[in-house]
Amino acid sequence: MNTNLVVQTPAGDKAFDEKEVPLYYSRKTADILHKYGPGPRVHFHMGLFLPGVTPNTTVSQRVLKRRIVESQEAIVDHAARTWGAYATPPARLLDIGCGLGGGSLYWAQQHGTRVTGVTITGEHVPIVRGFAAQAGVADRVEALRGDIHTFTTEQRFDAAYANESSGYMDRARLFQVVAGLLEPGGWFGIQEHFICRPEWTDFIDDYYRTRLGTFTEYIRAAEAAGFELEMDEDVTDRVAEFWVQSMAWNTAELDRVERLGEASAWSRERLQQSTITHGKLFRIWRDHALETKLLLFRLGGR
Ligand SMILES: C[S@@+](CC[C@H](N)C(=O)[O-])C[C@H]1O[C@@H](n2cnc3c(N)ncnc32)[C@H](O)[C@@H]1O
Repeated sequence: MNTNLVVQTPAGDKAFDEKEVPLYYSRKTADILHKYGPGPRVHFHMGLFLPGVTPNTTVSQRVLKRRIVESQEAIVDHAARTWGAYATPPARLLDIGCGLGGGSLYWAQQHGTRVTGVTITGEHVPIVRGFAAQAGVADRVEALRGDIHTFTTEQRFDAAYANESSGYMDRARLFQVVAGLLEPGGWFGIQEHFICRPEWTDFIDDYYRTRLGTFTEYIRAAEAAGFELEMDEDVTDRVAEFWVQSMAWNTAELDRVERLGEASAWSRERLQQSTITHGKLFRIWRDHALETKLLLFRLGGR
C-alpha cells in the first residue's frame, strides 16, 4: 500500500484515495459543461427555489436548464447576502474545491473580491482561467490545482468558501488548514449536505465519491480549530426541488438522444443511471434523510 495516497478519516472507517476524486471529476467535465454550461459561471451544486414553489416541468429543456442555473446562482447569492458580504465584501477569498469556477467568478464579479480557487482536479484549472478571462476578471481570479489538506500559501484571506466540496474532505484537517489561512476574525462559509439517516450514507457517498459527515462532526472539527458557528440555515426544503428540475432535464435529454437520435455529451447509460438515481435523491431530501445547510463559521482571535 502506498501510504502517501491513503488517509484515514477521523472515524477510521473509510479510506481516502487522493486519486479517486480528480479522476471522477475529470471524467465528468464534459457532462457538467453540457448540463450547467456554457458559462462563464458554471456551478456544480444544488440550487435554491422559493419556499413552496414547484415550477411545472412540462416546459422546454432550455427553460429547465435556465431554471437550474438560476437556482444555483440564487443559492450562492443568498448565502453571500445572509453572510453579510453585500455590506462588507471580503477583499480576499479562498474558494475551496472551486470546481469549474462558478463561485469564484461570482465573488470576483459581484463583490470585487480577489479570489484564489483551489481544486484537486487539475483538468479544471485552465477551464476556470478561461472563464475568468471571458468574464473580464482574470486579474481577480487565480485558479490553482491543490489538495486542501496540504495546501499552503503565503497569502492570508478574509474569507473562505466551500460549496459542496467539504463533503470530500477530512473535516478536522480542513478546519485546521483554513484557520491557518484566515485573518483573525475571518469567516468560513459552507454549503453542504449533512447525514441525518445513516442508512443512506453509502448510497450517496458511492454515487458522488463523497464522505459526507454529520453536523456534530463539523461543529467539533470547527471548534477544535478555533471557529465559532455564527449562522446555521437549513435549506433542505428549498433545494429539494432541484432534483425534480434536474430529473426533468435528464428526461428531456434522454428523449433527445433516444427518440430524436441526437448527440449528447452524456452517454445513454449515464443518463439512465442518473435519472433513476434522481428519484431516490429527491426522496432523501424530501424526507430530510440528509439536510442541506448554509453554515457561517467565524475564526476567533480578533
Ligand atoms: C461538487 S464540486 C463543487 C464545485 C464548486 N464548489 C461549485 O460549487 O460549483 C466539488 C469540488 O471539490 C473539489 N475537491 C474535492 N476534494 C478536494 C480536495 N481535497 N482539495 C481541493 N479540492 C477538492 C473537486 O475537485 C470539485 O471541484
